[in-house]
Amino acid sequence: MSNVVASLDIGSSKVCATIAEINKNQFNVLGVGTSECKGVKKGIIVDIDSTVQAIKSAVKQAEHMSNREIKSVYTNICGGYSTVYKNRGVIAVSREDKEITSEDVERVIDAAKVIAIPADKQIVDIIPEQFIVDGYDGIRDPVGMVGVRLEVEANLIVASCTTVQNIIRSVQKSDLQVDGIIIEPMGTSTIVLNEDEKELGVALIDVGAETTDISIFKKGCLNYTKVIPVGGNNITNDISIVCKISSQDAEKIKRQYGVANSNLIKNDEILKIPDLAGKGQKELHLLDIAKIMDARISEMLYLIKEQLEASGEYEKLSAGIVITGGGLFSIKGMLENCQNYFDIPIRFGYPNYIGVANPVYSASSGIALYALKQKRYSTVLNKSSKSYNDYDDDTYEEKKEENTKSRPDFIEKVKEFFADFF
Ligand SMILES: Nc1ncnc2c1ncn2[C@@H]1O[C@H](COP(=O)(O)OP(=O)(O)OP(=O)(O)O)[C@@H](O)[C@H]1O
Ligand SMILES: [Mg+2]
Repeated sequence: MSNVVASLDIGSSKVCATIAEINKNQFNVLGVGTSECKGVKKGIIVDIDSTVQAIKSAVKQAEHMSNREIKSVYTNICGGYSTVYKNRGVIAVSREDKEITSEDVERVIDAAKVIAIPADKQIVDIIPEQFIVDGYDGIRDPVGMVGVRLEVEANLIVASCTTVQNIIRSVQKSDLQVDGIIIEPMGTSTIVLNEDEKELGVALIDVGAETTDISIFKKGCLNYTKVIPVGGNNITNDISIVCKISSQDAEKIKRQYGVANSNLIKNDEILKIPDLAGKGQKELHLLDIAKIMDARISEMLYLIKEQLEASGEYEKLSAGIVITGGGLFSIKGMLENCQNYFDIPIRFGYPNYIGVANPVYSASSGIALYALKQKRYSTVLNKSSKSYNDYDDDTYEEKKEENTKSRPDFIEKVKEFFADFF
């Protein structure tokens, strides 16, 4: 029961809940639920009540599928809305025999948190990159080593207090606790990228409904994040506006007949779609729809390339680009289109696991896998077992202690982190 995690991807088009476990080194998805969400605009929660409704519905589906009850979740914050600050912490090793302990590691990580950030920002997460013992760098796990001076280089994930508080509020109003807020590309990359790509240098592009998250990983670490406010919904809106049809019809046409490049339409066909006034039918040429999509997709690829070039890393991305998210992934001819546009290797990535093998699940399943790899667990109960609320106070305290005990201490998380990233 304890090595199970629950995650929530609060996206601009949908909330996705995932319940997952690692069993015998195998990542298993136990339950997934998705619910359309109208409370998020361009990756930011703008309507808590609608978001709460979507969270509750997605969680209910995931609980039903897994026959488990979720009490707490890990959730995401859009990479581009967070800033990554690199900072260094330094301490003197405390023990007389100079053996480095887990307490030293905790202290040095706390020291790395001391940084001046604007009053309207808060630290969401801290990701150690490497430890340095007496000047020797590249150390993954310093515990047990002998040294006088312990340093850590860490990435501090900092985000706007309002954004973070709205995430927490929405989760809590859905009767759930927040186990942690994970910067989205850290989660997505865990499930979509392989270690070699992250080591060599790769750009992860998550094209969602209203946002495109651009993240660059190098030497195993997240180096750069940026969000651009475009996504798959822009394509739908263009079709809807230009053809004067409802956005539901535009979405259906995009999914069924959409192509990435108008040259792919060899035989033009005519579709009959109800007009907006509901008085008659409009005749739409597939070629015209393809041209509308072509124009928007070209603009999106241009903006992505522009950001990659602005990062100064584009030429150095030895492992190229990996595209995920639902916005471009499933459009016919898209991969070839991207391969022609970018002059570096490019592939599409999605979670290759039963139940979530679709790019729209990259963030939610990625957050779950990321948390599990760090041995961070959620409170997820078998439905048949008593929930915490059912226990009397004494049993509750015992249960709480048991649950806390089963959580590995901070050093275990740090160890796991480095095992994964080096
Ligand atoms: N089969 C498909 N063909 C074309 N587009 C699709 C398809 N399935 C989903 N999409 C598009 O993918 C987008 C949703 O993707 P995703 O679920 O990754 O977004 P999100 O995470 O909710 O949003 P964001 O990341 O921007 O906050 C929508 O624009 C939708 O139209
Ligand atoms: Mg998304």
